[in-house]
Formats: sequence, C-alpha cells, structure tokens
Amino acid sequence: MTVSCVVGVQWGDEGKGKVIDFLTRGVQWVARFQGGANAGHTVVVGGDEFILHLIPSGILHPGVRCVIGNGVVVDPRALLAEIDELGRRGVRVDGRLLVSDRAHVVFPYHKAMDSLAESGAGEGQRLGTTRRGIGPAYADKARRTGVRVADLYDRPVLEACLRFNVRERNALLGSLADPRPPYHEDPDALLEEYRGLAEALRPYVADTVAEVHAAVERGETVLLEGAQGTLLDIDYGTYPYVTSSNTVAGAVCTGLGLPPRAIDRVVGVLKAYSTRVGEGPFPTEEPGGLGEHLRARGGEYGATTGRPRRCGWLDAVSVRHALRLDGVDELVLTKLDVLDEVETVRVCTAYRLGDRRVDHVPAARSDLAAVVPVYEDLPGWRATTDGVERFEDLPREARSYVDFLERLLGCPIGLISVGRRRDQVIVRGARD
Ligand code: GDP
Ligand code: IMO
Ligand code: MG
Repeated sequence: MTVSCVVGVQWGDEGKGKVIDFLTRGVQWVARFQGGANAGHTVVVGGDEFILHLIPSGILHPGVRCVIGNGVVVDPRALLAEIDELGRRGVRVDGRLLVSDRAHVVFPYHKAMDSLAESGAGEGQRLGTTRRGIGPAYADKARRTGVRVADLYDRPVLEACLRFNVRERNALLGSLADPRPPYHEDPDALLEEYRGLAEALRPYVADTVAEVHAAVERGETVLLEGAQGTLLDIDYGTYPYVTSSNTVAGAVCTGLGLPPRAIDRVVGVLKAYSTRVGEGPFPTEEPGGLGEHLRARGGEYGATTGRPRRCGWLDAVSVRHALRLDGVDELVLTKLDVLDEVETVRVCTAYRLGDRRVDHVPAARSDLAAVVPVYEDLPGWRATTDGVERFEDLPREARSYVDFLERLLGCPIGLISVGRRRDQVIVRGARD
C-alpha cells in the first residue's frame, strides 16, 4: 500500500499523532490536508512529549518528508514557533518540510474574529472553538477574500488584500464592545510583519501538488494525516458544533490535490471510549464520576488549549456513520488501557428518539440533542494491560471488548494501543 489515509472517527483527539508516528516506520512522506493549528497531535518518544499543531506527526522520524497541503490554513507565526521549538529539541525540519503555496494564511484578525464570536456569542451559540482563527480563515477562503501563501510574496497583492481585510475587520471589531479594548490593527505594521514572516517561511514553500504526485509516481509510501475527527466535519459532523473544514478522508482530494483513486487504504483511529472538547451534542457523555475517572486516567485535557475534555462511552451509532463516510478499511483502537479499572464497559449500539429507535445520526439539531443512547453492557477486565505486547495476552474481557467492537462496527481492528509510548502497540495477527 503506497498511499494510506489516517483519520479520526470520533470528535478528534483519538490518538492520531501516536498512530501516525507508529505507522511512519518505512514511510517516506507524511502530509496534512485540512485543519490548522487547532489540531494538537501528541507523540511520546522515550520520555519526551511532542505536541504538533501544523507540522505532520511524522517529522520525528529522520529523513521523512512532511507536507502541509493546500487544504490547511496556515498561521505563519504558529508554524515558525513550531519549527523553532522542534529545532531547540534537536529535530531539524530543513529540507524536509514543504508548505503549499496554495494554502490560505491565518492572520491576527482571524483570531480576533474567532475570539469575538466565542466571547460575544449568546449562550447556546458559543461553539467552544480553539480560537486559532480557523473558522474566519476558511470563511475568507470561501468569500474569496483570503490570502494564500503565494500571495505573501507579491507585495502589491498582499498590500491590497490586507488593506481591504483590515479596514473591514477594524470597522466590525472596533464597533463592538468585545474584545476590550476595541480591536484595531495597523495594516502597514501587519504588512511589514507578514513580509518578514514570509521570508522566514520561504525555504519551505513549494508546489506541493507536484511534489506529492511525483512521490506517488515514484512508488514512495505516503501517509495522509487527518486532523480533528469525522464528527467535527463541516458537512457530516454535529453542525454547527463542528470545525470549518471537511475532515473526512475524501478531503485529501481537495486538500492535497490527489485524485480519489490515489488513496489505497483508509485507517480509522478509534478511541476505546468517547471524548469531545468544546460545545455540542454528545449523547454518551458521562458528566459524573465515570467521566472524571476517564479524564484523569486518560489525561483528557486539550493538547492545544488545555481545556478538560468531556468524556463518555463509545458511541457505535456515530462511529458507524464515520466509517461509512471515510470508507475505513481498518481501525486502530487506542487508549484501551484507560478502561483497565472500569467494572462494566458500556457501548451505545443505537439511539432512542422519543419512542422510536434510531440507528443513524439525525441531521436536525434538536433531534440530535434529544437522542438517548441504548447501551449494551460488557464486563470490564479490572486488570492492567500495561506491558501487554500480544493480543492473546490481553485479559479475556478486553479481548471480548475488541471482538465485540469489530462485529458491531463491521470493521477489522488491526492495531490496539495500550499506552502513550511508541512501543505500546499490539499488532493483531491475521484472523479467520
Ligand atoms: P490526536 O489529536 O488524535 O493526535 O490526539 P491527542 O494527542 O490530542 O490526544 C491523545 C492523548 O492520548 C495524547 O496525550 C496521547 O499521548 C495519549 N495516548 C495516545 N494513545 C494512547 C493510549 O493507547 N493509551 C494512553 N493511556 N494514552 C494514549
Ligand atoms: P485534533 O486534530 C478535538 C473542536 C473545538 C470546537 C470545534 C471548532 O487534535 O484531533 P475550531 O477551532 O476548529 O473552529 O473549533 O472543533 N476542535 C477539536 N477537538 N481535537 C481537535 O483536533 C480539534 N480541532 C478543533 O474544540 O469544539
Ligand atoms: Mg488532539
């Protein structure tokens, strides 16, 4: 398999960073195709923790080339800070990080708009975004008022775009009470700053479509790294409580310029329970003690914002929806170890809406908010999975849980992660 796409099949934070890092052995390229610095992908190597926001999680493997595709919205300040931080920690990206010249740029006014919408929005309208300017940057892309990486090098174009955008945002943001003091950006200062940032980024900027196509033609192995998760997809997620990009595997085609037939395999990353950070419906949420237990054991705090993640049971209805949309060939089950102490493991197998049983994710917001999960209970294993290297050595109930999920979801689980480190992965052998 030369081109594999790895996507989260829940609300993000499934452990994609760890899985990408694990799968990067023997791979030549890792590419991001959507999202921005809202992502926080954690990779633990030995005792060191790395949290990647814009740079693909394959970067920790020497020699691997990493691509930030045109579908990503790039905050140059955040990207340069990430490059510096990696450099300080001994990871050099020179010559192996490529940033698409067609990617849209995130500016401070995008972040200000994002924060304004969050702090100024009435109760029930707040989305709980990461405030990284993602929504406003994608909105500018769709409005055709965005600035692309290539435009940073064209002074008259950049100047005209910034003058228009800054004037508009100053008027809008300045007229509102929040954020205080009223927002005001100086277009000349912004122009000079971004000209400087553009120079610092110049060595990385490339026609990534040509580079990735050439790599595929040479038969090199490429991993496509999804950010967020399918239930945060702008079309198929729990709208409006979603991110502003398509997160499904199909977004590779528009976000990287690879045609549909180029994708050989889709790998879904599935956490053994559910989490979500930010607002929005979460039918299987456990706000009480069990949720707190999972948060504490699983370290469920946002890798980008530090916010506590909401925790609950695995929701097979929404995961089945995701598997279909992504065309998942194989699943990686992560964080199984977090359930080690749980007495009874619950899985939501269907929803109840009023007196109806529902097997799909409803589109209407009020229906989604009203669904009640139907659970199947399985015995917990109450034993440690720490150090387990072979599927056969997992506690019997843990194996039953994995088998149950495979049957329920109709998808093979090829890898099982039982800890944060690179080596804490069980590779499941072939089955009948
Ligand atoms: P991502 O956004 O999908 O890459 O996931 P995050 O990095 O935001 O969150 C996943 C968290 O779980 C990180 O802190 C990982 O180090 C951690 N993690 C990943 N896999 C496992 C696992 O199998 N067990 C445990 N206990 N932690 C894990
Ligand atoms: P990774 O790649 C989890 C959530 C935010 C909010 C909603 C919209 O680490 O899995 P945005 O800033 O994108 O406009 O916020 O989406 N969100 C994530 N949740 N993991 C992420 O990324 C997320 N990126 C955005 O919390 O609910
Ligand atoms: Mg994350």
